[in-house]
Amino acid sequence: MELLQGLQTRRSIRGFQPKPVPQELIRTVLSAAGRSASYTNTQPWEVAVVTGAKRDELSGVLYELARSNTPTNYDVLTPTSWPEALEQRSKIHGARRFEALGIGRGDTERRNELRLKNFQFFDAPCAMFMFMDSTLGPWSTLDMGIFLQGLTLSAHGAGLGCCLQASLAGYPDAIRDCLGIPNTKKLIVGMSMGYPDLDAPLNAYQSTRMELDEFVKWY
Ligand SMILES: Cc1cc2nc3c(=O)[nH]c(=O)nc-3n(C[C@H](O)[C@H](O)[C@H](O)COP(=O)(O)O)c2cc1C
Repeated sequence: MELLQGLQTRRSIRGFQPKPVPQELIRTVLSAAGRSASYTNTQPWEVAVVTGAKRDELSGVLYELARSNTPTNYDVLTPTSWPEALEQRSKIHGARRFEALGIGRGDTERRNELRLKNFQFFDAPCAMFMFMDSTLGPWSTLDMGIFLQGLTLSAHGAGLGCCLQASLAGYPDAIRDCLGIPNTKKLIVGMSMGYPDLDAPLNAYQSTRMELDEFVKWY
């Protein structure tokens, strides 16, 4: 796939075929992402790949925490407010997603069902959790973001789909416990990955973008 075409066609995938992803393909995709740029080549990313019985176990733990509305405890600072323009985009994103799924404003039950799908990894056969050392700061978080863009694009290029999920990072202690990861590693974000099912209702919605001239000034 052409690189530019890949960038233009990548999208979050929230419905997957019930077909496992061969480990060799996961390795290919991760190793391409591992070529990402980073501050003085420090490569802070550490990835936990979770499939099979462990995937089911972890999904069960997270689902129960989310279902019972256990308070989240993110390792990374989460925003409590946004500048107005960003808040507006976020609201439009939420409203259009619910609209595409035919979920009404007051339908709290279906809205909650949709939220909980995150913790079932949207039925993807593979989940990933991205960690970095807890002593690291914003520059390394930037490196993590570059790595994640590489990962989503390499997955797309390999015929896979994925969804980055901040929601999966809300219960880092449970994830570390389940995977035997020390608390010297902080959880940045989670991700679901698999072969896309483009007919799945959750994939009906396609995000929009602001116009180029809204975010670029020429000097
Ligand atoms: C850091 C980050 C966290 C995200 N968390 C979630 C999430 O918890 N659940 C979800 O369904 N999508 C999540 N997304 C996906 C965004 O909603 C999506 O990228 C955005 O709406 C643009 O859509 P697109 O990726 O299809 O272009 C996240 C994306 C990023 C980059």
